[in-house]
Amino acid sequence: MMKFSKIAASVAFLSVGVSAGALHAQTAEVLHWWTSGSEQAALGEIRKAFEAKGGTWVDTPIAGGGNARAAAVNRMLGGDPAAVFQFSIGQQLRELADQGLLANVGDVATAENWDEKLPPLIVKAAKYDGNYIAAPINIHGENWMFYNTAVLEEAGIEVPKTWDDFIAAAEKLKAAGVTPIGLGGQPWQERIMFNSVLLGVAGREFYAELYSTLDDDLLKSDTMRKVFETFAALKPFVDEASPGRNWNEATNMVAKGEAAFQFMGDWAKGEIIAAGIEPGTTVGCAFAPAIDTAYIMTVDAFAFSAMDGEHATPAQTLMAQVMLEPDVQIAFNKKKGSIPARLDVPADSFDVCAQTAIKTLQDKKTHLVSTGLFGVPSAVSGAIDDTISNFWNSADMSPEEGQAQFQQAISYAK
Ligand code: BGC
Repeated sequence: MMKFSKIAASVAFLSVGVSAGALHAQTAEVLHWWTSGSEQAALGEIRKAFEAKGGTWVDTPIAGGGNARAAAVNRMLGGDPAAVFQFSIGQQLRELADQGLLANVGDVATAENWDEKLPPLIVKAAKYDGNYIAAPINIHGENWMFYNTAVLEEAGIEVPKTWDDFIAAAEKLKAAGVTPIGLGGQPWQERIMFNSVLLGVAGREFYAELYSTLDDDLLKSDTMRKVFETFAALKPFVDEASPGRNWNEATNMVAKGEAAFQFMGDWAKGEIIAAGIEPGTTVGCAFAPAIDTAYIMTVDAFAFSAMDGEHATPAQTLMAQVMLEPDVQIAFNKKKGSIPARLDVPADSFDVCAQTAIKTLQDKKTHLVSTGLFGVPSAVSGAIDDTISNFWNSADMSPEEGQAQFQQAISYAK
């Protein structure tokens, strides 16, 4: 199928004749942070489809989401933007649109009827002033718990459903000489684990209300105290080499049985797949322990720098169109570990963890948004990551102090 369309596209291209201008018009620099094995493989699916349609892809990978996003913004501000850059939909992308830095792909979105094909929450978050400012590619969930099945079995441990159970299991594993939690010690990874604890201890309604209102009473509540106490109780279960570790190295620890668990978004599953492991077998997936069911979503997307006014250029338009093609959504997401952003593409060939995600999302009450890029302004997101990381890495800080710093930083930033 892909072969046929590739040939068809190049024949059509040749028959109209290729001018240097036309070629240039279909060239796009793509700036992104997808540098791990599975991320590269997934991105390769978009690139292949873009090139099959006559596009020329200029690749600019920058390791680390924060670094890549800073580079994309600096390039825009400096007048040398990358045409296409990876981002996530939500409040922080909106901030870039507020500054007039983005082009919209409203024409292709209307022509291809994105409003009907994407879930309402994504439609809303991907638009600014009624127009799409990004092409959404997937839905990732951040409150996953991956585990090494054999390690759990050997230690006689069931997959924990509550944080108390988790702590009891982790003590057992530690006594048996296994690192209970493979953690990449970087602020955003520590925050992902914290938010899983928050959701697990306080529940989905509390999570939604806390991050949508940033209310001082909730931040100062006894419930939050319990969240900080539980998070602090996990400190002894991480190895000494955690600080600075990349997320995919932590996934690798779980795959090899060097660590029992990882709390991470399901891009970790992409790495598991890339290692040749079928998710749900030697590496299993479950939601992090919680009192109810929810899915903390982050939606990867590509946004478009304003190159020449508010409307996307031909290369940007072609890129947007390709990203939402059903074949691309399927091929990309199977490698990435996520599920398609489009509701209407068949997902029956996806793994068991993806099936759980799809089923869970059918209930709207499970829909929560990440504090990374989606659900809170950038200043608040930074305050969350900084204070959580500071608390996690300060051996002497009490849960009370951690909670107070968290509350003060958010209250100042909001
Ligand atoms: C993105 C994922 C990516 C992960 C690690 C997250 O911000 O949403 O797609 O795999 O960062 O690079």
